Amino acid sequence: MKKTALSRFSVSMPQELARQLDGMAAAKGYANRSQAVADMVRAQLVEEHAHAGGQEIAGTITLVYDHHRRNIQALLTDIQHDHQDLILSALHVHLDHHNCMEVLAVRGGADSVRQLADRLVTAKGVKHGKLTVTTTGKEFAR
Ligand code: NI
Repeated sequence: MKKTALSRFSVSMPQELARQLDGMAAAKGYANRSQAVADMVRAQLVEEHAHAGGQEIAGTITLVYDHHRRNIQALLTDIQHDHQDLILSALHVHLDHHNCMEVLAVRGGADSVRQLADRLVTAKGVKHGKLTVTTTGKEFAR
């Protein structure tokens, strides 16, 4: 693996905040403070990137719905067929007698993925839905 060149700079913050940072870093198993801070920066960059229009993002859309609700399955399927270009894979789990969970792996322009997620999450009958965004792996070197 290519070794990433490191940049060193000093950061000032309130003592209490630094103490909490160290506690969190230790609890999560980071080797040091720098690693923890770099991961937080990366997470924030992924978040910003996901709001930057045409940038390519990857992620998952999770939906929970009652399959007895009229038309819900047909509606969700219609929406998904309209966006095959964005949906890489779909997983359907029957949670119990009523509830289904669907997890869609998605990749595409940030705006398009977000629009698709909004359509699915707001579809009548969906109890809970959420888009989780990650990087395509091409940005934010580690
Ligand atoms: Ni089901």
